[in-house]
Amino acid sequence: MAFEKNILCIGAGYVGGPTMAMVAAKCPRYRVVVVDIDKDKIKAWNSSHLPIFEPGLDELVHQTRGKNLFFSAEIEKNIQEAQIIFVSVNTPTKTFGQGAGRAADLQYWEKTARQILANSKDAKVVVEKSTLPVRTASAMERILNENHKHIRFEVVSNPEFLAEGTAIRDLEFPDRVLVGSRETPGGLKARKEVVEIFLNWVPGEKILESNIWSSELSKLVANAFLAQRVSSINSISALCEKTEADVDEVAGAIGMDSRIGPKFLKASVGFGGSCFKKDILNLVYICESYGLEKVARYWESVVEINEWQENRFVQNMLVNLFNTVAGKRIALFGFAFKADTGDTRESPAIYVAQGLLAEQAEVVITDPKALKNARRDLKNFKKGLTFEPDPYKAARNAHAVAVLTEWDVYKDLDYKRIFKSMIQPAFIFDGRNILDRKKLYDLGFNVFAVGKAPLKHF
Ligand code: NAD
Ligand code: UGA
Repeated sequence: MAFEKNILCIGAGYVGGPTMAMVAAKCPRYRVVVVDIDKDKIKAWNSSHLPIFEPGLDELVHQTRGKNLFFSAEIEKNIQEAQIIFVSVNTPTKTFGQGAGRAADLQYWEKTARQILANSKDAKVVVEKSTLPVRTASAMERILNENHKHIRFEVVSNPEFLAEGTAIRDLEFPDRVLVGSRETPGGLKARKEVVEIFLNWVPGEKILESNIWSSELSKLVANAFLAQRVSSINSISALCEKTEADVDEVAGAIGMDSRIGPKFLKASVGFGGSCFKKDILNLVYICESYGLEKVARYWESVVEINEWQENRFVQNMLVNLFNTVAGKRIALFGFAFKADTGDTRESPAIYVAQGLLAEQAEVVITDPKALKNARRDLKNFKKGLTFEPDPYKAARNAHAVAVLTEWDVYKDLDYKRIFKSMIQPAFIFDGRNILDRKKLYDLGFNVFAVGKAPLKHF
């Protein structure tokens, strides 16, 4: 069958894989190829064990793979054949040189641009899918268009707003799709081509068109605002613990104000994930580079509160476990940065585990999907660390359990059985507020939940 369009995505990660699976499912007339430099990852995408866990992803890939969705390690050939190239390579925080610890590391991004240029024989639309500093498109255009091939590339920004754990739903029913471009005839034509892809399943009124800089910046700002809400409620959680106010009740009361809204007001051990911290720090760096010190400090405080909250959680455990956890078995329920994903990037659990290990606790980690990543994250710790898929076994002989990921499975465990198997007095620290505190207290636990007065038997 001849396909109407060849779409390529460079970068087969958490964004590239699911997004292109959705495009392929909704646009059977397009041939969609996803390439990556990581050959093992491509092998996994072509196997029955996909490299990432995401509810609904297996079905979607199964439905399209080999029909109009292909995963390949042949980057050059696929660049040549594509008319539209999405780039969803990683853009981590720089760890070296100028802007280290803040600025985005654009080396993967730039390599991709040069690779596109080297392998193109005709005009292409290049779509920024990765999250990038505002004005990256200008550098991208320079690299691509200052060529001797007389080929014209159009750069379009189409940031991704999916959240892990709900990626498939977010892709199928997005709140909005944002497409930004230059407002030149060529830019507008390229923008239209990208919009047309999404019109295959997204209602027109949900597709926002804008200038390219607004589009790039909106992505950073969306993540900053979301993270800011979490830091705001987490800052209030500390005040609740001091005053016997209940953070869930406060969140419920303020969230009913339609101007505030109920989402992203769940107090927690802290926000994690590969993007919130990196994108805010990138925003901070950009503001600094434009001399906007006050703006930079304002957004930086969102990350500072998050680090403070993670640290506060560890300190709270330490203080309440009689100021020592050395030699004490402590079970961590959950290691993923949120439920329904195996992803552990920037997970608060990493910080909590490290804090407890530094105090010489015997840490046991359990998680339904993230143990492989947890092992990798903590590979430098040789002592005092075990991994246990079964939460009952993890809690056996433990002094304390700390809930760090809001997996449903932890809500319905037999806590009576867990309590009996633990060293007494038994403690539970709920970093996600998913457990019934009163019930646990009645079973005999000493219960500490974020933003709630402790329930102690002594
Ligand atoms: P990821 O690390 O899971 O995937 C990126 C992939 O790009 C990797 O597999 C890597 O091998 C590949 N890659 C790097 N350089 C390459 C090259 N030159 N050629 C081919 N492949 C190359 O990252 P991700 O989580 O998918 O994020 C990608 C981008 O999307 C980032 O900018 C991120 O900020 C943004 N984003 C992520 C999410 C999310 O939920 N993870 C959501 C929205 C936006
Ligand atoms: C986030 C955004 O929600 C996406 O829109 C965006 O596309 C993505 O970042 C990205 O750019 O990578 P994600 O990090 O996958 O998505 O997950 P979120 O649901 O936003 O959760 C982030 C962190 O905040 C998690 O650790 C979560 O547990 C925590 N969180 C979230 C809270 O502690 N409380 C809340 O009320 C909400």
